[in-house]
Amino acid sequence: MKKARIIGTGSCVPEKVMTNYDLEKILDTSHDWIITRTGINERRIAAEDEQTSDLATRAAERALEMAGLSGSDIEYIVVGTITGDYPWPATACIVQNNIGAPKAAAFDVSAACSGFVYALDAAVKQIQAGAIKRALVIGAEVLTRAIDWQDRNTCVLFGDGAGAVVLEAQDGENGVLSTHLHSDGAYLELLYQPGFGTRHPATTQGLAERIQFLRMQGNEVFKVAVRSLSEVAFEALEANGFKPEDIDLFIPHQANRRILEAAAKRIGLTEEQVFVNVDRYGNTSGASIPLALDEANRAGRIKEGDLVMFDAFGGGFTWGSVLLRW
Ligand code: ACO
Repeated sequence: MKKARIIGTGSCVPEKVMTNYDLEKILDTSHDWIITRTGINERRIAAEDEQTSDLATRAAERALEMAGLSGSDIEYIVVGTITGDYPWPATACIVQNNIGAPKAAAFDVSAACSGFVYALDAAVKQIQAGAIKRALVIGAEVLTRAIDWQDRNTCVLFGDGAGAVVLEAQDGENGVLSTHLHSDGAYLELLYQPGFGTRHPATTQGLAERIQFLRMQGNEVFKVAVRSLSEVAFEALEANGFKPEDIDLFIPHQANRRILEAAAKRIGLTEEQVFVNVDRYGNTSGASIPLALDEANRAGRIKEGDLVMFDAFGGGFTWGSVLLRW
């Protein structure tokens, strides 16, 4: 069976930086509260004319450039996002057109903060089945338009961005070793956007009740996230006969520093093994893992042969891990 190997990474964040001190000016909050509870210093905010597909396209172009490929080499484009340009069609179709990929199938995956890991799994399985040779997998969000800027419990946590990888079918030992995905819809209302799907379509009353924005019960999410992130990391290690100390770089969903530290501790990882950039971008949902991966890759934190793990948790609930040999 062919391995699905990452041969290019790319990312893109909006230029505008919003610091905790900027938030102090518009909300009843403080830098100290935010940094202590979340580890977040600042986040990026998309410009008014900047859409999810714009960030996704730029991240994809950078990943293609690193891989030495162009859009016409890509057969399959998957975007993990919950903040696509439109409810439909898929943001992946906009990217397909932007990068000039006439051969590519294109669709979005809705798995909230686990979107990239779910999207990656879909593309990896296509490559392993021999159906395609090259895929582009993207996580992209403009979440700052889906959060309630009057709700200090949530709006301080999130930011915008995108990350992308190019996958190629290759022989040999390097590439994705396994993927492990899970879900539990019983927890839906702990983290969700009540409107405007078919259940609560767009109405003036709905807008007044602010049902178009993300809602979250932070304490409950925290507990389930830490448990699920650690369980699915162990699942990946056991499936491949590895121990926590074998991991060279652990790239978790960048929800907030406390969740990452608690999960890493449960798994038995040292600080050096864990990549963290939540301090600069906040929680970028489906974009967070590929954004962190691209930073780590370009900073030389990953070398050929390294054992790398992605670990995600998000609304749904959904969660999953990916173990790969770089
Ligand atoms: N500034 C100042 N005070 C605040 C703020 C704020 N931005 N937000 C809440 N508070 C107040 C609350 O009103 C509350 O005040 P009260 O005691 O007078 O009622 C107090 O701070 C404590 O609130 P808690 O919700 O108990 O604070 P907690 O320690 O749980 O931290 C947080 C909240 C950071 C949201 C935490 O629950 C958390 O990290 N949860 C995980 C959620 C998460 O990361 N979700 C992202 C999506 S899921 C994912 O990506 C994995």
